[in-house]
Amino acid sequence: MHLIDQFASPIIYAHRGASRYAPENTLAAFRLAYSMGTPAFELDTMLTGDGVPVVIHDDTLDRTTDGHGKVGGMSLSQIRQYDAGQRFSDEFRGEGIPTLEAVLDEFKGKMLINVELKNYSTPFDALPKRVAELARKMNNLDSLIFSSFQPLNLLRIKKLLPAAKTALLVDEGIAWRMLASPVLARLSPQYIHPHKSYITEKYLKDEHKRGRRVNTWTVNEIAEAELFFNWGIDGLITDDPKAMLELLAHFH
Ligand code: G3P
Ligand code: MG
Repeated sequence: MHLIDQFASPIIYAHRGASRYAPENTLAAFRLAYSMGTPAFELDTMLTGDGVPVVIHDDTLDRTTDGHGKVGGMSLSQIRQYDAGQRFSDEFRGEGIPTLEAVLDEFKGKMLINVELKNYSTPFDALPKRVAELARKMNNLDSLIFSSFQPLNLLRIKKLLPAAKTALLVDEGIAWRMLASPVLARLSPQYIHPHKSYITEKYLKDEHKRGRRVNTWTVNEIAEAELFFNWGIDGLITDDPKAMLELLAHFH
């Protein structure tokens, strides 16, 4: 059985790991989420210049590491030289940019992992193929959910891995709202990951009637989370899994 069906709803997903407490998209942030008792985490992945999926949010190294330049313009061995921890705090100096393989390997069977395919500036690259190859190699499809704002990625994942769970990410803004429904009709993902500005009680009821489950992001405020829990949200993607798990414990 898929891990997503083993955890009680709502499921708390640590956004880029426990990113309020540790540097985003690092093994330290994922380990911390695990030690907090979080059932799931979200990560972002894109390809290095030599075609290896690594875990990082931005197209460049500049914001989160001590390096500069495009992820896609560097080889894995170059990427490995950079520090992804020290900008967050000295305590995390030495944390690297992990490969997707290292993360999937460490958390296989332990946590549900939401893999966001982040090749938005190179939508026709080999990322879905490389990620699908990894999932096959790891034999861990039952602990993965694939998401993307780019529908093509989900179509390609479905073709490569027909049993995969997929989620369409929907950003805020009117254009996305208009785009979402034809794309959803074509893709029929099991999950939808809308920005939190979409969430109302009626919206959740309507999605549930259509047979889709809704995980929203990025929810860090207690009052907002409480409202979403009351309305029947299926999952919250949060930077602060500790606070959300505490709230959920009182809620049940
Ligand atoms: O998957 C939810 C969220 O991560 C989407 O936005 O920019 O944080 O990757 P972003
Ligand atoms: Mg993301």
